[in-house]
Amino acid sequence: YYIGVDLGTSAVKLLLMEADGSIRNVVSKEYPLYFPHPGWSEQKPEDWWNAVVEGIRELVPETDREKVAGLSFGGQMHGLVMLDENDEVIRPAILWNDGRTGKETNYLNEVIGKGKLSEYTANIAFAGFTAPKILWVKENEPENFARISKIMLPKDYLAYRLTGTFCTDVSDASGMLIFDVKNKCWSEEMLKICGIRKDQVAKIYESYECVGTLKPEVAALLKLPESVRVAAGAGDNAAAAVGTGTVGDGQCNISLGTSGTIFVSSEEFCVDSNNALHAFAHADGKYHLMGCMLSAASCNKWWMDEIIGTKDYAGEQEKITKLGENHVFFLPYLMGERSPHNNPDARGTFIGMSMDTTRADMTQAVLEGVAFAIRDSFEIARSLGIPITRTKICGGGAKSPLWRKIVANVLGIPVDIMKSEEGPGLGGAMLAAVACGEYTSVEDAASHIVKIVDTVEPDPDLVKKYDEKYRKFAKIYPALKDIYS
Ligand code: XUL
Repeated sequence: YYIGVDLGTSAVKLLLMEADGSIRNVVSKEYPLYFPHPGWSEQKPEDWWNAVVEGIRELVPETDREKVAGLSFGGQMHGLVMLDENDEVIRPAILWNDGRTGKETNYLNEVIGKGKLSEYTANIAFAGFTAPKILWVKENEPENFARISKIMLPKDYLAYRLTGTFCTDVSDASGMLIFDVKNKCWSEEMLKICGIRKDQVAKIYESYECVGTLKPEVAALLKLPESVRVAAGAGDNAAAAVGTGTVGDGQCNISLGTSGTIFVSSEEFCVDSNNALHAFAHADGKYHLMGCMLSAASCNKWWMDEIIGTKDYAGEQEKITKLGENHVFFLPYLMGERSPHNNPDARGTFIGMSMDTTRADMTQAVLEGVAFAIRDSFEIARSLGIPITRTKICGGGAKSPLWRKIVANVLGIPVDIMKSEEGPGLGGAMLAAVACGEYTSVEDAASHIVKIVDTVEPDPDLVKKYDEKYRKFAKIYPALKDIYS
C-alpha cells in the first residue's frame, strides 16, 4: 500500500492506495487558517503535523499496517516555513495566498527587474511566492530572520519530521523564486538577493525519488513499519496533475480547490514571455506552465457559508436553471489575484444586479466568475500557441456537475472527469509507488492507474453565449483596477 498526503489549505486529505491504484481509504482532517490582517494568510506547521499523525493512524486499518511500503505528498505550494537551529518553528507559516508582500514583489520586479528574475528563475515575482516573503521577514521581523537555520515548504516540513531529511522537490522549489527551474538547481543570484545561504535551503530531489525512511520514533507513533519509504513528493498542482494523468506533452488539468489552477504539461522547458503563467518543473521529471487564481472553490464556500448561511451547496445549485442568461458578474478576487493580474489589492466584486436578481443568479455568478477567471489564463496559454483541446478536472469544486458544465462551456472544450477527484492525494501515493519501484516511471504509473469515467461535452449554443459574456467580463478588471489599489 501507498499513502498519499494532500496537505491542503483547509485540511489534510490522506489516501491509502493499493498497488494497482484502487483507493482503499480516505481520511480528512481540518486545521485552522489565520487571517491576522486583511490579505494575510497563515497556518501553524504544528497543526499540519498533528493532523497528519492523527489522520494516518485512522487511515490504515490495523491488519494492513505492515503492508504500507511508501508515502508521499502533494503540498500547498510557496508557503514559508522557517526553523531555528533547534528545529523549532520560528513563526507561523506565511501561505501561498498571503498578499502582504506587495512592496517586496515590486522591489523584485522593478528594481532587480523582471528580465533578471526570469533569467535566474524562469519566473517573475508574485506576492504569494516564497522569495518576497523571505524579504518581508528580513525587513519586518529581523530577529526572526536572524534565527533562520532552515527554510522549507509546507510538505517538506512533514518530510523532515517523518525522515529527518532536509529535502524539497523540483516542482515545489520552482514556486520559491530562488530556484533555477531550467537547470533544476538553487539560483546563487537569488539566494544572494534574499540574503540567505545555501545551507539554509534543502537538498533537491525529483518528486518520485526516495528521500529516506521513517524515523524509528515516528514509525512507532504512526504504527507503521520503519521501512516505509518517503518520496520527495510535489507541489499540490503537480501532484494533482500526476493523479489525473496530466503528464508528458500538452495535457491540461484544471483544479477547483481553495485556489483555481490551469496546468499544462510540457516535455520541454518553456517560459511564458508575458510572465503571466508560471514556468515550473513537473513531478514527472519534465516541465509545465500554470495559471493560478487565489480563490476558486473558496469563493463558493465564502458565498455559501458567510453570506447565504447554508451548508447545502448542491441544494443552492439546483435552483440554477438559466445557464448563459445571467446578467450578474462576479470577480473572484477575494484574496487579491495572482494569474494573470498579479495584484494583491484586487478584491471580490459583484456587478450587474437589478431588482429581479435572485439569490440563484448571484450563486451562478460566483461559479461563472471563477470559470471566467480560469479562462483568462487559458487565453494566455492559447496566445502562446499552446493548443488546449480538452482538459481534466479535479479538486473539491469538481464534484459539482453544474460547475463542471460551466467550465466546459466557458472554455469551449470537453472536460474529462476522472474516477477519483482526489488529484494531489492520489498523485502523492503514485509518486510513492514509483519511488518504491512498483512502476518504472510517473508516466507508467499514470497509464496503469488513472481512469477517465465521463466527459462533459460543450454545447455550441451555450459556448457562444458564454463567449459574449466573457468578452464583457474581461473588460471589468481593467476598469476597476485603480479603485482596488
Ligand atoms: C499554486 C498555488 C496554489 C497552492 C494551493 O501556485 O499557489 O495552487 O499550491 O495549495
